Amino acid sequence: MQTTSFSQFNIPSIVWASPPPTTTMLCGKTTSTRRLSPPNAVASSTSRHQVTHSMPPEKLEIFKSLEPWVFENILPFRKPVEKCWQPIEFLPDPSQGPEHFEEEVRALRQRVLGLSDEYFVMLVGNMLTEDALPTYQTAINTFDGVRDETGSSPCPWAIWTRAWSAEENRHGDLLRTYLYLSGRVDMLMVEKTLQYSIGAGIDIGVENNPYMGFVYTSFQERATNLTHGNMAKLAIEGGDPVLARICGTIAADEKRHENAYTKIIEKLLEIDPNTTMIAIAYMMKKRITMPLHLMYDGQDPNIFKHFSAIIQKQGVYTSRDYVEILEFFIRRWKLEKLEGLTTGEARRAQDFVCKLPRKIKRFENRDNILDSHPVKLSWIFNKQVCV
Ligand SMILES: [Fe+2]
Ligand SMILES: [Fe+2]
Repeated sequence: MQTTSFSQFNIPSIVWASPPPTTTMLCGKTTSTRRLSPPNAVASSTSRHQVTHSMPPEKLEIFKSLEPWVFENILPFRKPVEKCWQPIEFLPDPSQGPEHFEEEVRALRQRVLGLSDEYFVMLVGNMLTEDALPTYQTAINTFDGVRDETGSSPCPWAIWTRAWSAEENRHGDLLRTYLYLSGRVDMLMVEKTLQYSIGAGIDIGVENNPYMGFVYTSFQERATNLTHGNMAKLAIEGGDPVLARICGTIAADEKRHENAYTKIIEKLLEIDPNTTMIAIAYMMKKRITMPLHLMYDGQDPNIFKHFSAIIQKQGVYTSRDYVEILEFFIRRWKLEKLEGLTTGEARRAQDFVCKLPRKIKRFENRDNILDSHPVKLSWIFNKQVCV
């Protein structure tokens, strides 16, 4: 049996103790920065070695047996629709008559004048990340044992995913409408980017495996909580308290989602610590990628790189944040003191994860020298932004 080394940063070749029927697809070279010309960009979003269905079939039973637990412990994280906020509550309201509406739009446009173009690039990137929701619901429904088999399945896992998706849908809607009304971004390019990006999909490397999948969603929810929270602070500084409230309100939703997904991993660590620990290590070894890393606007083959550079430079989401999220989960899931690991592979996984923050910090100190240069991004009208 091949063993797994968790001491390298490279993409690992992990093999489960009893290999499941695994379909392996090789779809081109591993070149994450490679971009295709527009006609091909949508068709070929898969540019790295993809493994599917890596969870051994006998593990399906675990997720089946957890259904009552999900019903009691995860479904309460949903917020009833009647208690949820809706986008219109933060936007100019057309039901109040045309004059009032126009006045509110003018006030909105006035408020955003103090925000930089870099801020708007980040807001567009965040909006696109939210608005590419069909991609994420699709991804979650590829997880074995928890997927929504019919589209309206009464299985508690599926009920959660649909409710989560319905809550998330408001985030993109609200940000997109705000961006549109602000007049600060080229909506045609933004909308094209969204279409390209949903067409391209995501490649998060979770192998239809719910252990890995829920590690990814835990991490991602915390990352979005942090990002929207930081955008809220910058909006306050830039003089737009309404936008700050919008970003803060979205961040609060992300926090609630983070708590749900984190609880699922906590439960899996309790009932199946070996597999869960290995899954955490595996995802950390691959490195969690931002969901929209395949984004494309039809013009700039490096648009994701540019967006990431800006968000890092503005301090909204940095490699330091990545490490802090990892450190948070090590504490939250008590990984250093985790008991019940009965295989060498699981213990190596534990060791790898617990030592990883220190390792990343070393790399970060060495590599984190950001050059600053102006670049033209299609989302902003005829202007250069600093990446
Ligand atoms: Fe969201
Ligand atoms: Fe969320």
